[in-house]
Amino acid sequence: MALPALGLGVPALMATVIGERTDTVGKVSFTNPVHAPPLAESRIDNDGRRVFDLTIRQGRREFIAGRRSPAWGVNGDYLGPTLRAGRGEKVLVNVSNDTGEYTSLHWHGMHLPAAMDGGPHQLIEPGATWSPTWEIDQPAASLWYHPHLHGSTAQHVYRGVAGMFLIDDEAMAGQLPGQYGVDDVPLIVQDRRFTDGVLDLDEPMAGTTGFLGDELLVNGVRGPYLAVTTERIRLRLLNGSNARVYNFRFADGRSFHQIASDGGLLSAPHTTGQMQLAPGERAEIVVGIEPGERVVLRSEDPATGAGFVQHDGGPDRFDVLELRAAPELTESPPIPARLADVPRTAEASATRTRTFELAEHMINGRLMDMGRIDAEARKGTTEIWNVRSGDGTLHSFHVHDVQFQVLSLNGEQPPPELSGWKDTVLLPPGTAARLIMRFADYSDPDIPYMFHCHMLYHEDQGMMGQFVVLGPGERAGRGSGPHRTAVGHQAAAELTPRRGRPTG
Ligand code: C2O
Ligand code: CU
Ligand code: CU
Repeated sequence: MALPALGLGVPALMATVIGERTDTVGKVSFTNPVHAPPLAESRIDNDGRRVFDLTIRQGRREFIAGRRSPAWGVNGDYLGPTLRAGRGEKVLVNVSNDTGEYTSLHWHGMHLPAAMDGGPHQLIEPGATWSPTWEIDQPAASLWYHPHLHGSTAQHVYRGVAGMFLIDDEAMAGQLPGQYGVDDVPLIVQDRRFTDGVLDLDEPMAGTTGFLGDELLVNGVRGPYLAVTTERIRLRLLNGSNARVYNFRFADGRSFHQIASDGGLLSAPHTTGQMQLAPGERAEIVVGIEPGERVVLRSEDPATGAGFVQHDGGPDRFDVLELRAAPELTESPPIPARLADVPRTAEASATRTRTFELAEHMINGRLMDMGRIDAEARKGTTEIWNVRSGDGTLHSFHVHDVQFQVLSLNGEQPPPELSGWKDTVLLPPGTAARLIMRFADYSDPDIPYMFHCHMLYHEDQGMMGQFVVLGPGERAGRGSGPHRTAVGHQAAAELTPRRGRPTG
């Protein structure tokens, strides 16, 4: 590291660490404009598919003026463009790997065939291109993408490989703020740590859940402000952090409307003053603003429970970004009273109940094994999964392929923010969630989907399991295909010595 030490007066913000508490409230100068990530370009091929070209690569990014830091990105230096497709469209994504390491790209929240999922069984070799294709078949939602290779997901996400994948449908079209980059803006919130202005790629452990940064980036921007030109703005919030839980609220306590959760619109807007998101979770909110007004979005008091909370960021507070309204604002549509049909999945329709306890980096006492199938679901059936944090720390439980509904949380009716489609749910210490999900289609006896903790350190340590969806008469392939498994292990082995700071 030959970079000079930071000069005086350079930092746009400075985190104050009091004991183990990080607190940036009132200490962030919002000097950098933040924008929606660019929309990924696409074209329609001869088969009518919408085609995207993505390249995962190493880059350099000036997070701090005058300091170029190594980072990774997709079609850029840090983070990636927003993919966008309509329900019923067929998509093809050419994902090229220019990183020099094995990686993968997973479509978090997407309902799609297991072979297209981008998990640890779909590794992309250095220099190779992987081209998954599928039909978009789910309601409008704010999904996202990120690497998912066994053992190094935390590193690859931390370096900057992540982006949004938005799905559109007819429902509510034109009735909600929807001008991308104007009154409809994704905000990817990530905590990071900089040393001498350089992104600390060593991703140090800070708590029992993994890496915790001492400052925030929004869409890769430090000290961010968002220019608002409309009376209301729709923010698509993604917690893209490795381990940190946020509880967003505005500094003046104003309320806003949550309109969507992970998998799409709620049945009706939920008016609230706070929005908690665990790693991997998303929420869409609509907030009103007055001409000329400035208001700060903060994160404080996440409900992380007791246990090792003092090590897991529970007491930390952050200034996230400032909304800056123009002196004159364009009129916005009123918030509709009803949003989308979210039919409740009847508990009685479930034909199978499973129990998963997350503890000590394991699920039900087992570490992730790419050669072992932990659950076999039948296509066309509905299951209830009882999941529980059993070790006094936080977990963020995520299931691939499906969007589930939360039947109950510790035996109680879930709060309104968990009333819609979800693919990830926070499990504070001792918390049990009862989830219901339907495996509607896409059987594959050989290639599994993942379920895991989305605290990326836990996931990498092995808090992950595999399930297959079987069609009529199908039996699970032997260990999910020994060939693929061998490839996976070889890749993981090759990755290990290269986990240091990327050069470039
Ligand atoms: Cu966001 Cu298994 O992933
Ligand atoms: Cu996922
Ligand atoms: Cu966990």
